[in-house]
Amino acid sequence: MYRMPRGTRDILPEEQSHWRYIEARAAQLCQLYGYERIDTHVFEDSRLFVRSIGEETDIVQKEMYSFSDRSGSWLTLRPEGTAPVCRAYLEHGMHSRPQPVKLYYITPIFRYERPQAGRYRQHQQFGFEAMGDVDPALDAEVIEMSWRFYIGLGLENLVLKLNSIGCRLCRPRYLEKLKDYYRDKGELICTDCRRRRVTNPLRLLDCKKESCLSVAESAPKSSEHLCPECCQHLDDLRRYLGFLSLPFSLDHTLVRGLDYYTRTVFEIQPPGERGPQATLGGGGRYDDLIEELGGRPTPAVGFATGIERVILNLREQQGSVPDLPYPTIFVAYLGQEAKEEALKVASQLRGAGVGVLLAYGERSLKAQLRQANASGAKQAIIIGEEEAGAGVAVLRDMVKGEQKSVPRADLLAMLVR
Ligand code: HAM
Repeated sequence: MYRMPRGTRDILPEEQSHWRYIEARAAQLCQLYGYERIDTHVFEDSRLFVRSIGEETDIVQKEMYSFSDRSGSWLTLRPEGTAPVCRAYLEHGMHSRPQPVKLYYITPIFRYERPQAGRYRQHQQFGFEAMGDVDPALDAEVIEMSWRFYIGLGLENLVLKLNSIGCRLCRPRYLEKLKDYYRDKGELICTDCRRRRVTNPLRLLDCKKESCLSVAESAPKSSEHLCPECCQHLDDLRRYLGFLSLPFSLDHTLVRGLDYYTRTVFEIQPPGERGPQATLGGGGRYDDLIEELGGRPTPAVGFATGIERVILNLREQQGSVPDLPYPTIFVAYLGQEAKEEALKVASQLRGAGVGVLLAYGERSLKAQLRQANASGAKQAIIIGEEEAGAGVAVLRDMVKGEQKSVPRADLLAMLVR
């Protein structure tokens, strides 16, 4: 017996209503804010991710699904959605379109992580990116959209965390302060963090280990070491979020797990103490990324959320989603001639856009009606030997159990009515 690879999940028919509904709501939301869909392919040149996510991140160090293809190209299954969108922005000359260019995606993401509830090796991300404007009003828009997405689905008691990690001008000074603080904390932090003090000090604040969390708590705050421009950007953003009545709180340990961020970073978390791994979604600014990938300076901001986590939280909060449409009419028959008529009736109704389930084989009428009941059909069209020759059918109300004979030529009009 072959099984699903560890950390992956099949999405069975009974789960599809959640998936289709959430993806449809995501698309509607993007339409409201003027974001257009983009689909990039599943694998990219590995160097794109190493360069943008950062060599010292967990994603690049431990989690990428990378391989060489037969021609020796080094490729990686997309471990996040921002870098491919930036690559596409550059490759298709989108800087010549009106800015900001606003794009969204709903796409599979691959990370070799330790599987647990809400954490998989393949998950589906809904994300959006606005490229080409530095205005903090755009950050506010992205944050509002993210918030609305969850609230619109009925999620409650969410927590919105915000921070600014500065820009390439002010961050080096802050990182020195951080290194100073951590200099004599070697005993208190994990082995990875001891290494991070040298290789990537910002990541020290992001470590999920219990001991490291408490050390990070008292560390210097990036928002207190910003240059005047970054400070103004954060002040404006906070003001705009206030206008929009978004209930954010500043969290100075919020730095996010990818290296491309500048200034704004934010996360939306579900209620309760569940640790950073339970984050519903997150994003921020990445003003230098497009330039680092070879473009002209192009400030940008975006967000992404894992749909599995949204569903998990919806289920926990007992949120409901509409059922997917399914045929509510069942066509049953008795005898060969009736079967041929039943085939015609089913085809005619389906052709007119009416969903129909058809019986197969030579089962008894009783068995067919049991099958109709089990399928949830509201009405059954029954064609017996007598009806077949007489151009009629029995229309049975499966709920009330009442039935009447109707001309087959009138069935469509009656059912549509
Ligand atoms: P991220 O925080 O790495 O950000 O991932 C975004 C969201 O994807 C997470 O908040 C979570 O909901 C979901 N997620 C991540 N890993 C897993 C997993 N293993 N299993 C299930 N769900 C997962 C990014 O990827 C950035 N590209 C977001 C962004 C867009 N920043 C700017 N623009």
